[in-house]
Amino acid sequence: MTLYVEKLCVTGAGQMGSQIAMLGALAGIETRLHDISEEQLEAAMTQNRKHLLRRVAKGKLHADELEAAFGLLTTTTELAAAADGVDFVIEAVTERLEVKRAVFAELDRYALDRAILATNSSYLMSSQIADATQRPSQVCNMHFFYPPLVMKLVEVVKGEATSTETAESAMTLARRLGREPVLLHKELPGFLVNRVLRAIVDEAYYLLESGVASFEDIDAACRLGLNHPLGPFQLSDFSGLDIGYNARREIFERTGRPEDAPPRALAVRVERGDLGRKTGRGFYDYSTTPPTPTED
Ligand SMILES: NC(=O)c1ccc[n+]([C@@H]2O[C@H](COP(=O)([O-])OP(=O)(O)OC[C@H]3O[C@@H](n4cnc5c(N)ncnc54)[C@H](O)[C@@H]3O)[C@@H](O)[C@H]2O)c1
Repeated sequence: MTLYVEKLCVTGAGQMGSQIAMLGALAGIETRLHDISEEQLEAAMTQNRKHLLRRVAKGKLHADELEAAFGLLTTTTELAAAADGVDFVIEAVTERLEVKRAVFAELDRYALDRAILATNSSYLMSSQIADATQRPSQVCNMHFFYPPLVMKLVEVVKGEATSTETAESAMTLARRLGREPVLLHKELPGFLVNRVLRAIVDEAYYLLESGVASFEDIDAACRLGLNHPLGPFQLSDFSGLDIGYNARREIFERTGRPEDAPPRALAVRVERGDLGRKTGRGFYDYSTTPPTPTED
């Protein structure tokens, strides 16, 4: 039987969690947004309001719907209060295994026994986290894409212990949130989209590092030849260069294979704090229109 979600908790109010919580409230679900930082919660609400006001201005959302959604969305820095009595939690905290495991252990104490605990992690699999709880069959991955208010896809991934009911409930919730979920019957690093993307991005870095073409020409080739809306380097800027860098570092630390190390062009930018659009500079400088390519 699939679970009908009455109360949703989203923990981690960064780029992802803030908008996932907004999706919950827009779907008419009582939603609690949690973060350890009060400032982050305030910023999340401000950003969400800005985003939705643009929709109202475009006639895509009624002002009453906006107010109704904000009426269903509350924030707190207390995880116990956020998870108390909820039947579904989506975790979107910082991408660090030990942080996520600690959060899941706490969630396990506070959420209802029937509650499902899903992680929005991009690279960590639910089996790495599930045994921090007493309910491994009710833990799964639910991977949204940035920005969640716009991107329709959600990858629901069954871990080794995830029950069919849990996966089906996550699929049902994703649909209620207006998303179009796909189901992965087994987990593997990078899930589905990021594996396909990784193959493209790896090839793009190979072409760049071997001097075949500039990154701006590789981006142009992917846009014009493959009809991709953004080239691989533009997309990396959009997602945040630190995300790809940290994922590669983690793989490299595990395998030690030089080909798994973060590519030089990525490492130099991350090391000087150029993390893409969120810092105004990455592969491109966003202070100009159109954005201009940056030097290594
Ligand atoms: N950014 C993306 O494109 C993207 C896409 C899909 C999935 N993800 C995944 O979503 C998760 C969040 O990513 P993000 O980009 O929103 O990160 P972010 O850095 O924007 O936000 C993370 C938030 O977690 C909070 N946090 C840290 N420790 C916490 C704790 N113990 N309890 C509650 N909150 C805590 C931080 O204060 C911060 O607000 C990560 O697992 C990431 O892999 C990111």
